[in-house]
Amino acid sequence: MNRRNLLRATACTTAGLLAGLRPAFAADAEIEVSPQDAGPEISPHIYGHFIEHLGAVIYDGIWVGRDSKIANVDGIRRRFIEDMKRIGAPNYRWPGGCFADGYHWRDGIGRAPRPRTYNYWQGQTPPGVDHTETNQFGIHEFIRLCRLTGAEPYLAANVGSGSPQEFHDWVLYCNAPANTASVAAERAANGDPEPFSVKWWGVGNESWGCGGDMKPQEYATLYRRFVTQFPAYAPRPYLVAVGPRGHSRDMDLEWTTGFFEAMQGGHRSRVDGLSMHFYTDFRNSKEKVSTFGARGWYDVIREGLRTENVIERHWALMGNYDPNHHTKLIVDEWGVWYRPGEETAPAHLLSQPLTLRDALHTAVTFDVFNRHADKVAMANVAQTINCIHSLFLAQGDRFTRTPVYYVFEMYKNHMGARAVPLKVRCDELSVPGGDGTVKMPGLSGSASLKDGKLALTLTNPSLDSPLTARIKLASGTAAEARAIVLTHADMTARNTFDRPEEVKLAPLPVSLRGGTVEVAIPKHAVVSIEVRVS
Ligand code: AHR
Repeated sequence: MNRRNLLRATACTTAGLLAGLRPAFAADAEIEVSPQDAGPEISPHIYGHFIEHLGAVIYDGIWVGRDSKIANVDGIRRRFIEDMKRIGAPNYRWPGGCFADGYHWRDGIGRAPRPRTYNYWQGQTPPGVDHTETNQFGIHEFIRLCRLTGAEPYLAANVGSGSPQEFHDWVLYCNAPANTASVAAERAANGDPEPFSVKWWGVGNESWGCGGDMKPQEYATLYRRFVTQFPAYAPRPYLVAVGPRGHSRDMDLEWTTGFFEAMQGGHRSRVDGLSMHFYTDFRNSKEKVSTFGARGWYDVIREGLRTENVIERHWALMGNYDPNHHTKLIVDEWGVWYRPGEETAPAHLLSQPLTLRDALHTAVTFDVFNRHADKVAMANVAQTINCIHSLFLAQGDRFTRTPVYYVFEMYKNHMGARAVPLKVRCDELSVPGGDGTVKMPGLSGSASLKDGKLALTLTNPSLDSPLTARIKLASGTAAEARAIVLTHADMTARNTFDRPEEVKLAPLPVSLRGGTVEVAIPKHAVVSIEVRVS
C-alpha cells in the first residue's frame, strides 16, 4: 500500500472507530449525480471513427477484396462489420487525413481496372513495401461500409490539390438524384441509383501542414470558394473548417484566430464545425510501447486529461468571433501516438500495440467529451483499425479487438443521452511525473440520462489501490444497478492474435443501499454503471 492509500485507509478506519462502529462501506470517493439537471445531448457522433488510406487501415484492415478467403461482405471484412455494428459506430471520416488532400475521387469509381495512383504515405513506407494506391476502395465501397454498419459518412474534401469544381462534382455524385445531373446518373450506372445523402463535409485536412502548408488567410479564401456554391441537395450540409495548427502539445491558437479574422464580414460561408486534432504524442518517448513503467502509465493518462483544457481554450477563443457558438468543435483526430518500432508488419505503417493504458486514456477522453457535450459535436478516433489508437488489429485472416474497443462498448449508453452533472469528491493521486511527483485526479468520470436510465462511467487510474465509491442521486432513487469493468492484473496487458481475449469486459458487483449505489472499483480500471432511476 502506498502512502496516499495508507493515509486514505487510516482516515476511513479512524472515522469508523470514532463512530464506535466499523463502517459497512468506507467510501474513498463520494459521487453526487444530478439527473434533474440533465443538460445537452451527448452527440452520438462523439463516438465516431477515422479511416484513412494509410498503411493497413483500408487494405488488409477493412478491405479484404471480394474474392478473398477471409469472410467478407462485398469485399469488406465481416468481422469488422459485426464488431462495428455491436458498438453502434455512428460515422466514419474518410479518405484522410493527409491522404485526402492528394485524393481525386474519380480514381475510385467504376469497375476494374482502376488507376494505380500515388499515396501520400508512400514517402514514409519502408523500402520494399508497395504502398501504391490501387483505388479498389472508393466512394461506393465506402458508402457500402457505412450502410452495412449503420454509420454516417463524413467526407474530407481535397482542398490541397483539388479544385472547387472537383469538390462540387463529388457533392453532386454523392447527393443529387440520378435524374438531375449527368454526374449523378454516372453514380447510378456505377451501381448506386439512390443518393449517398452525405451530410458531413470536411473542407480539407490540416491545411496548415500536409494539406497545403497554408496561412490561415489563404485557407479562409479557399474555404469560401469551396463552400459558396455547394450544390444544394439534401441533406443540408454540415461544413467543417480546418482548425488549430499542430496536433498535440505544440498546438497554437494563431491559426484559429487568423482564420476567424479572415472570415469576418463574409455572409455566405457558414462554418458549422471547426476541426481540431489532439494527439497524446509520445513519438519521442524512450520507452517501448508494449512495456513501460509507472511514469509512462501516468504520463499518457494525464495527457489524455489535458483534452479538457484544449477544448476549453478553443471554445473561449471561438466565442470571440461567434458569441452564440454556432460553430462547434469537431475533434476529428485523437488518440495516443507512440514511437515507431513495434508495428504489426512493415506495411502496417503507424500500427502499434494497444494496452490497458490506452483503454484508460480512451475512457478519460470520452468523459471529457461527454462533460463538454455543448461544445463537441463530433470526435473521430485515429484510427479505427491498424493505425495509432486502434480498436482492432488485423492481418490476413488474423484479427483481434484491442482493449480500446471495449471502452467504446462500455460508453455506448452515453450516445444520444443527456449529459448529467456529477461531483466527484476523491483524494488526488501523487504520481511520478515532471521532475518528481505531480498530482492528478484519483477518479474521473461522466454521467448521462436516457429513458430513465443513468449511465455512469468512472476511471480509477491508480496503479496501487482499488477504491470504493458511493454514488448518490440528488433527485430520484436508484432502483436497480449493474456494472461492468475493464481491467487486468498487469497494466501492460493487451490482446494479440494468439491471445485475443487477454483483456476483456467482466461483470462487477454493485450494491444498493437506501437508494445509493456502492461499488468497489479495482485499481487501474474503467467501470461502466447503469442505474435505473425511479
Ligand atoms: O492520423 C495520421 C495523420 O495524422 C493524419 O493523416 C493527419 O491528418 C495527421 O497529421
